[in-house]
Amino acid sequence: MNFKRLSDIDVRGKRVFIRADLNVPQDERGTITDITRIRAALPTIQYARSCGAMVMLTSHLGRPTEGTLTPADSLAPIAQVLGELLGVPVRLIADWVADTSWQKNLHPGEVVLLQNCRVNVGEKKNDETLAKAMAALCDIYVNDAFGTAHRAEATTEGIARYAPVVCAGELMAAELDALTRALAQPKRPLVAIVAGSKVSTKLTILRALAEKVDTLIVGGGIANTFLLAQNHPIGKSLAEPDLIDEAKKLMADFPGKFPLPSDVVCGKSFAPDATAQAKSLDQVLHDDLIMDVGGQTLKQLVPILESAGTIVWNGPLGVFEFEGFDAGTRGLAEMIAASNAFSIAGGGDTLAAITKFKVGDRIDYCSTGGGAFLEFLEGKTLPAVAALERRADP
Ligand code: 3PG
Repeated sequence: MNFKRLSDIDVRGKRVFIRADLNVPQDERGTITDITRIRAALPTIQYARSCGAMVMLTSHLGRPTEGTLTPADSLAPIAQVLGELLGVPVRLIADWVADTSWQKNLHPGEVVLLQNCRVNVGEKKNDETLAKAMAALCDIYVNDAFGTAHRAEATTEGIARYAPVVCAGELMAAELDALTRALAQPKRPLVAIVAGSKVSTKLTILRALAEKVDTLIVGGGIANTFLLAQNHPIGKSLAEPDLIDEAKKLMADFPGKFPLPSDVVCGKSFAPDATAQAKSLDQVLHDDLIMDVGGQTLKQLVPILESAGTIVWNGPLGVFEFEGFDAGTRGLAEMIAASNAFSIAGGGDTLAAITKFKVGDRIDYCSTGGGAFLEFLEGKTLPAVAALERRADP
């Protein structure tokens, strides 16, 4: 993958526009509940600051209506956290495209946060006039928003066509390096785990991944659909009956590549206090919900993960948020952590599981991307990455 990197560019005294992905989760009172994405943006910001650049940073937060800024859309809580992490105040600039007078007061080494970029009219549609106006604000455009790289928006794609110099930030470069290492020239066997509750969005990536990997471990609703395709009862469990034929075709086209659960843990209701019952597949009743894989299934995964050269993980094997149903995901997380393989994980639920089971320091790379991570796995071209490649040196 050929793109310019921030570390190769002289940013001294320059106006540097950084598009980060600071789309962090918040509770109902607006308090940020996980600052991982803010921390991940720091190396690029600090590098530009330390070189004496004038740093303009922006991000989207949520999916606001363009043209109106409600308190819930504001990046104010992010400016606060960022200021604490950087140890300097971070000014928040509203209306930064319509009135650019704020640019006159920028100082080398200063960081300003430009209010939620998705409030600007034309952002989502990648409007050319907006992209040009934003490009005119900077000498160097840095895309560090891997989590939004699958969106062709004015701050992720359009601006990269018009800014004088365009490069990837530290986080974007690290994400692309790790994903390329895992998928382009992986050490084999390459094992992928695709699981979780979002079924349809993930079923489409299975075929693309099956072409590349040696083993594809499915879990959650996807595994249930595969079990249905093999005529196993799954009770009231999450599954997509209309995708049974596709599951059958996948198993026929890639024989032996999809190890399926041989035992499960069921509950009668989707609740934290549901009683967990370990069952073989033929014991699953019509009113059961499959909420985890069983101990036998985990044992079957041991040799696969122990001998892997590369592991790509997206999605928990069960409802790991509920105590009686977390053993499958915990076991998987620990096996990946213990493996000598190069391991990479991505997706919100997966990272939450990694945090819960305290294995983060033993996974080689944790991606900040959700949808972007999945689309990369699927082999799709990410528009923001394509924009960086177009502006690389020939
Ligand atoms: C994410 O959280 O996956 C990214 O920030 C992208 O957000 P979006 O799905 O609203 O574009």
